[in-house]
Amino acid sequence: MNLKEKSVLITGANRGLGAEIVRSFLQHGIGKVYAGARNPSSLPDFNDARVIPVRLDITKPDEVAAAAQNIGAVDILLNNAGIMNFSGILTASTAELSADMDVNYYGTVRMIQAFAPLMEKHGGGVIANLVSVVGLASVPGIEGYSASKAALFSATQAARTALKSKNITVIGVFPGPIDTDMAKNLPLDKASTVDTAEDIVKGIIAGQEDIYPDPTSKQISGLWGSNPKGLEQFFADMAG
Ligand SMILES: NC(=O)c1ccc[n+]([C@@H]2O[C@H](COP(=O)([O-])OP(=O)(O)OC[C@H]3O[C@@H](n4cnc5c(N)ncnc54)[C@H](OP(=O)(O)O)[C@@H]3O)[C@@H](O)[C@H]2O)c1
Repeated sequence: MNLKEKSVLITGANRGLGAEIVRSFLQHGIGKVYAGARNPSSLPDFNDARVIPVRLDITKPDEVAAAAQNIGAVDILLNNAGIMNFSGILTASTAELSADMDVNYYGTVRMIQAFAPLMEKHGGGVIANLVSVVGLASVPGIEGYSASKAALFSATQAARTALKSKNITVIGVFPGPIDTDMAKNLPLDKASTVDTAEDIVKGIIAGQEDIYPDPTSKQISGLWGSNPKGLEQFFADMAG
């Protein structure tokens, strides 16, 4: 894919993986980046005229509709925005479980529903969803988050099937632990944000349908592919 004439919209572009993905797309020569943020003044100074700030809370239908109307079709929609609550399935309140689902699942699906028809009119495009390896099997302590990412994995497969005939490729991205604010309280080895963002952008350019961007995610993908029950047990053992 030649990025020079292309545009990308990245949600949650103000920090973490989202901000690094913006920088990586710029380095790869993309024509235009719409940088979504709940609070646009929280966006870092990317020091690049190709970056256009967009107010975008993906849980707010009016902001998603306004973004779709103002921006129109993009070539690449990168659904990066997400949250992670620490919650156990036997103890979590419905409010805690809903919070993860509202952003990670419903918010992302809302973005797909708003932008896919515009992409279709434009002749096609790419939608990439930041899932997670925890969408493949549940991780103790972040069980509501795992469920929301499993739902997003399912939505990614569903959108892929529904949009294939419209020339829209739907990509699932499945990182392991990455060194961002989200993972700061996880006592695990973490991959660098810069390297992970770069691998995600390279995977999108190469047209990979499933991207496992960091070394841990590649190992987990192998285990999941050969022995899904083994991955369930591997994660369960993390509870000690
Ligand atoms: N870090 C990891 O280990 C890891 C592993 C696998 C997958 N992921 C996934 O990768 C994505 C990025 O995570 P990260 O590690 O970069 O997390 P992060 O550092 O916590 O950043 C999360 C981003 O999402 C934004 N966001 C949260 N709720 C939003 C909403 N309702 N509307 C729009 N934006 C919203 C945040 O904006 P504010 O600044 O306004 O809060 C922030 O920009 C997430 O989908 C996450 O689940 C992360």
